[in-house]
Amino acid sequence: MQGRRVLLGVTGSIAAYKAAALARQLVRAGAEVRVVMTPLAKQFITPLTMATLSKHPILVEFFDPENGAWNSHISLGEWADCLLIAPATANTLAKMATGVADNLLLTTYLSARCEVVVAPAMDLDMYAHAATQANLATLAARGVRIVEPAEGELASGLQGKGRMAEPETIAAFLADLFTEKKKLTGRRFVVTAGATIEPIDPVRFLSNHSSGKMGYAIAGALARCGAHVTLVSGRTALATPPGVERIDVLSAEEMYRAAVAAFDGADGAVMCAAVADYTPETVADRKLEKGEGGMAIRLKRTRDIAAELGRRKGGRLLVGFALETHDEAAHAEAKLARKNLDFIVLNSLRDAGACFRGDTNKVTLIDRAGREELPLLTKREVAERIAGRIAALVGSAERNAPAEAPVEGGDR
Ligand code: CTP
Repeated sequence: MQGRRVLLGVTGSIAAYKAAALARQLVRAGAEVRVVMTPLAKQFITPLTMATLSKHPILVEFFDPENGAWNSHISLGEWADCLLIAPATANTLAKMATGVADNLLLTTYLSARCEVVVAPAMDLDMYAHAATQANLATLAARGVRIVEPAEGELASGLQGKGRMAEPETIAAFLADLFTEKKKLTGRRFVVTAGATIEPIDPVRFLSNHSSGKMGYAIAGALARCGAHVTLVSGRTALATPPGVERIDVLSAEEMYRAAVAAFDGADGAVMCAAVADYTPETVADRKLEKGEGGMAIRLKRTRDIAAELGRRKGGRLLVGFALETHDEAAHAEAKLARKNLDFIVLNSLRDAGACFRGDTNKVTLIDRAGREELPLLTKREVAERIAGRIAALVGSAERNAPAEAPVEGGDR
């Protein structure tokens, strides 16, 4: 559950009191939890309880009536790895099945791209009713996962099936769901991220605009799939994703050495760093003084980390990035071949939403078989897609062949 983002939806059922224990268990298990309540749910459990246990203010309305701040259902859905509706009333299930969008939880559900899990809670006759069963069947057919209610005493005093599953059962269901995605357990990956810094003198340097967000998102996504990840990072202001081992470097040369060393014994690498192609020929040991005229700094080439790993890779997996401003696909395909990559992630600076430092990206994944153009996504979603492709390649029979010895000059 570590690092997973769970959006907990609470609806107006007497079982809402169990959502408090559920939120607490999820937080204890390492998940980040945000809570959306329907207006009626507030009658059953207080927002204060849910906010305290989830460690975040809860959300109910589309906007804050005090200051007009908009609660974006789109960004909530993008944020979450899983939308868990517990308890889910017959009313909310019916609205989900028919696409009604009259509260924040329902609009979030309709726009969510993540896994959706519901834990129904209602009276036995409501649960058994053909309408409720048809709604559950519709939702299941659309990929919604259902944590079956339990048999037992109901709030009405009747005995039967309809009690919401216990918080432990729901938490275990979620843990299993996330484990299902742990396709890279036991695998080791190296990820380079961020910008390198090439010193000119003790105070100045050459660098670039890379924020490191994409590489950090990939490191996090691979770790969530169960991989051991070594993140070789240039300077960034980002927090290390949960479960990731981070090695900080400054220059392209330092990154080269750390990445090559970490690649020993790894199953693959993702080269996401914006590595300087040139570095000053000499680094002044004292601060350079300004003079009357201009100044020229002689630069020399740095070593290409991706190309070096491409030479050493044998049967291992190597993924690169290409940032292009023109003839994008042709340039990316040339890099795919030159650096002996398995696939390359092409960003074009011409695409709106694919900018430095932003939280979204628009990329095309290119391999020798073809191109897959992804829509505009958050960097976290792009990272999930890349990790998914890596998991599929690592899992394929072809890749389970023993690694070849390193071949100088590439193996293709
Ligand atoms: N890369 C690397 N080491 C370098 C330069 C680049 O590992 N010294 C990696 C990047 O992390 C990226 C890929 O190579 O995955 C593409 O980098 P890019 O700089 O765009 O490609 P170049 O081959 O240097 O081509 P150019 O700068 O001419 O576009």
